[in-house]
Amino acid sequence: MAGTFTFTIIKPGAVTNEHIGPILNEINKGGFHISAMKMIKLRTTQAQNFYAIHKEKAFYDALIKFMTSGPIVVAILEKENAVEEYRKLIGSTDPAKAEEGTIRKLFAQSMQQNAVHGSDSDCNAAIESTFFFSKSERFSIFDRREF
Ligand code: CMP
Repeated sequence: MAGTFTFTIIKPGAVTNEHIGPILNEINKGGFHISAMKMIKLRTTQAQNFYAIHKEKAFYDALIKFMTSGPIVVAILEKENAVEEYRKLIGSTDPAKAEEGTIRKLFAQSMQQNAVHGSDSDCNAAIESTFFFSKSERFSIFDRREF
């Protein structure tokens, strides 16, 4: 059965361009419920750990520099089939290829500064949510279940 939550980051470029409100509005219009949310500034070691899977990629150092360049908003979003539904809402990683009306088409500047992150599997949604939110911050807004 598909999972009921996903994890997202509103990235530094979108935060400094005052896109937090408009992006959250798109998320709500897309039928997602915001179950957890906070604004933080990543330390370099945190960003390196979060993006460890990309360590060997050519864009890794630039990605870490960008993700630590300013505050970000992290959130857990609830909806049936959340991971797939959210990836549809945000569009392709490369905004040049993102479909009209998607969050990345509307707010991203480039492949690196692509406005938002979205988990790519239910397993990673759980890992990423746990990375940023403590046990007492992870709960469904509909029932007593913890994420
Ligand atoms: P995100 O969903 O946060 O996951 C990894 C990030 O790496 C991705 O969004 C992009 O911002 C970035 N990324 C992926 N591929 C490239 C690339 N070819 N060049 C620059 N950045 C990339």
